[in-house]
Amino acid sequence: MEKRNSIIFDTTLRDGEQSPGASLTVNEKLVVAHQLARLGVDVIEAGFPIASEGDFEAVKLVAQNVKGPTICGLARANDADIDRCWEAVKYSDKPRIHTFIATSKVHREKKLQKSKEEIIELAVKAVKRAKSYCDDVEFSPEDAARTSLDYLCDVVKAAINAGATTINIPDTVGYSEPKEFGDRIRYLFEKVPEAKDVVISVHCHNDLGNAVANSLAAVEAGATQVEGCINGIGERAGNASLEEIVMNLVTRQDYFNVNVNVNTREIYRTSRLVSNLTGIDIQRNKAIVGDNAFAHEAGIHQHGILQSKQTYEIMTPEEVGWTGENLVIGKHSGKHAVLALLEEEGFQLDKETITQVTERVKELADKEKSVERDDVIAIARDITHQLSDEEQFVKLMEFSVVTGSNMTPTASVKLRVDGEMKIAAGIGDGPVDAVSNAIWQMVDPSLKLQDYHLKAITGGTDALADVSIKLSDENYNLFVARAVDEDVIRASVKAIIKGINKALNYREKIQTQG
Ligand code: KIV
Ligand code: ZN
Repeated sequence: MEKRNSIIFDTTLRDGEQSPGASLTVNEKLVVAHQLARLGVDVIEAGFPIASEGDFEAVKLVAQNVKGPTICGLARANDADIDRCWEAVKYSDKPRIHTFIATSKVHREKKLQKSKEEIIELAVKAVKRAKSYCDDVEFSPEDAARTSLDYLCDVVKAAINAGATTINIPDTVGYSEPKEFGDRIRYLFEKVPEAKDVVISVHCHNDLGNAVANSLAAVEAGATQVEGCINGIGERAGNASLEEIVMNLVTRQDYFNVNVNVNTREIYRTSRLVSNLTGIDIQRNKAIVGDNAFAHEAGIHQHGILQSKQTYEIMTPEEVGWTGENLVIGKHSGKHAVLALLEEEGFQLDKETITQVTERVKELADKEKSVERDDVIAIARDITHQLSDEEQFVKLMEFSVVTGSNMTPTASVKLRVDGEMKIAAGIGDGPVDAVSNAIWQMVDPSLKLQDYHLKAITGGTDALADVSIKLSDENYNLFVARAVDEDVIRASVKAIIKGINKALNYREKIQTQG
C-alpha cells in the first residue's frame, strides 16, 4: 500500500505555553520557533494573537522570521479574534488561521449558552471570514471527543463546505480511550465524504495518560495531521508529546506505513531547549528524551547490549540526536566553547547574547577556580529568561538587608509597580524571608509564595545560587520562576519578582480572552 504523509503540527508555543509557569518571553518564543523549523515540523502554532500584546508580537515575529513551516495563529470564532490573528500571521510565506468553537453539550449549554444551530452558524461565519484572508484555514470543534457523533459530523461538514482546509478533532479534556478515539475518526470519514478532500487532524490532551496512544489510534484510522507539544507540556497533564508520536511513526514504519518530514536528530536538542527555557524539567524516565531513555543499568541488559545493540535498543540515541558528548568548559574557554556547549543544550543564541553569556562566564571564572557546564547553562538560562519591559508590571529598583548574629534580619525594598514607586520594609527569620516579606506588602495579596528552592550550582561558598520559586494566584494556577546570581539574596529577589510578573502576565492574558 502507498505510504501516506503525516503532517506534524507543533503547538508548544500556543497550547504548551498555556500551562501556567511555562510562559516564555517573545524572544524565547522566536528561539524555540527557529529550532522547531530545524526539527522540520510542518506547522508551528506560534500563539493566540488576541490573547495579549506579547502573544501578538511573538506570532508576528515568528511569521516574519521563521521560514519553512506553515505559521499558524489561534482565533476564537469571532471577527475580532480572526482579524487580529491575520494581522500577526500574514507576514509568513505560509500563513494559517486556526479558528475554533466548542461543540459538546456541556460546553454549548454551560459555557456558550448557544443552540446547536447557532454554533454551526458561528463556525461557518468564522471559517468564511478566515478564508477571506488566507487559503489555509483550520477549524476545530473544541471538546470534539465528548460531542455527539452525528452533531460532530454536521459541524465538520459545514466547516468544510465553508472553506476549511484542515479539520482538527481535539480531545480537549483527555477523556477518550484509544480504540474509541480511532473509531470516532473512522466514523467521520464514513459519514462525511468531504473529509477525504481535506486534512483531518487530531489534538489530544493527556489527562488520562492516553494522549499519544489516542493520536496514534487516529493516525491508524486515517488522520493525516497530528498535533502535540515538545516534552508533552501543556495545560493540566499536558498535550500529546510530539517526539513520542514522531518516534512511534518512524520506528514502527512497518506498522503505520506513514512518512514524516521531521529530522529526528534534532529531537534531543529541541527537547532540552524547551525544558531550559520553560523551566519545566523532563522526567528522568520519559520516553525518547528522558535522561534514562537510553541508559542500561541492569547487568543482564548491559551484557546483551555489548553483544548486540539490537537486543535491548529499538532505536539508537544518535537517531534522536543524543550525542552524550558532554563538553566541559574550562577557565580559558572562549566564545566558541560556550557556543558549542549551549548549542548542544538546544540554545540558539544571537551573537550579542553569546557575548553576554561568555562575559558572565569569564567574570565567574575570575572569581572561582573552575566553571562547570551547569554554571554556563544557568547563566544562559538567566540571560535568555529576562522579561521584556512590557512584561514587567513589577520592577525591582533597589533593596538592602541588614542582618547580624544578635538581630532580626530587616530588609527595605523599592519597587516600581505598574508605573508607581513603592517602598516597604520587612523583617523575617532570615535575610531572604525579610526581603520576601517586604515585597509581598507591595503586590497583589492574592499571589502566594508556595515553594522556594535554593541550589548551589557547583560546590563552594562562591558557587552560583540558583533559586526557583513557585507561586499561586487566586485560581490556584502555579507559576514557576528561576534566577541565578552569585548572591543568594539577589537571586531570590529576582526569582520572586519574575514569578510575580509571570502571574500578572498570565492574568492579563486570561482577562483578555474573557
Ligand atoms: O484542546 C483544545 O481543544 C484546543 C483547541 C483550541 C484546538 O487546544
Ligand atoms: Zn488543546
